[in-house]
Amino acid sequence: MTVENEQDLLGLKAIGRIVGLTIQHMAQHLQPGMTTAELDAIGAEFLAQQGARSAPILAYNFPGHTCISINSEAAHGAPRSDRVIQPGDLVNIDVSAEKDGYWADSGMSFHVPPYDPAKQKLLRVARRALGVAIQQARAGRLINQVGKAVETYAKKQGFFVIRELNGHGIGRFIHEAPSVPHFYNPSFKERFEVGMVLTLEPFIAMQPTRIFEGEDGWLLKTNGTLVAQYEHTIVITENEPILLTAV
Ligand code: CO
Ligand code: CO
Repeated sequence: MTVENEQDLLGLKAIGRIVGLTIQHMAQHLQPGMTTAELDAIGAEFLAQQGARSAPILAYNFPGHTCISINSEAAHGAPRSDRVIQPGDLVNIDVSAEKDGYWADSGMSFHVPPYDPAKQKLLRVARRALGVAIQQARAGRLINQVGKAVETYAKKQGFFVIRELNGHGIGRFIHEAPSVPHFYNPSFKERFEVGMVLTLEPFIAMQPTRIFEGEDGWLLKTNGTLVAQYEHTIVITENEPILLTAV
């Protein structure tokens, strides 16, 4: 969507903050030995307390309130009562939700101790890749500059962008136009415009990989290589974007 007035911005800020706080709340409770269903329940309760509804359930009838994807699982991990979080796991928590007709989406990867330097570096590079993407997102620029900058940065650090997983428009629904690739596509000529609401969410992997579908029909996974993702929902301005989900 495009922000048209103050009410739009207030509604988006409200749901953006709830989504950001939900991830923080879940991360505070994240520990080895718990199941992904238990972690999801903590997020579900928090969303309900805030008067927000899970976007994956609302939009896709997903079997969970949040997406929890571990290690080589990139996205759309369905919470399960038989999936136990292990020491050393990389856990991606992706929360999207709706309130008063406005939608927001954010994701973050966390490293369960004991810490491993290579995994720590993957998280650091993925987090900075989102920062690199955000720096490119301003009115008038070609959207493809995001992918160009992210790909250049990841390559320099010795990591790889997953090409199938893009940022997306959002606001009145979970997935809207445009699509925002995190790799350079010179033929993609669309530009950022003031008020555009979209997500940036580069998925960074240790090794080159494409995306494979899991047997449950939801999960998107790599060829086995570790992956991390950080995602914010933003509003485009003439200068730096407004980060709706940063708390
Ligand atoms: Co998203
Ligand atoms: Co997301």
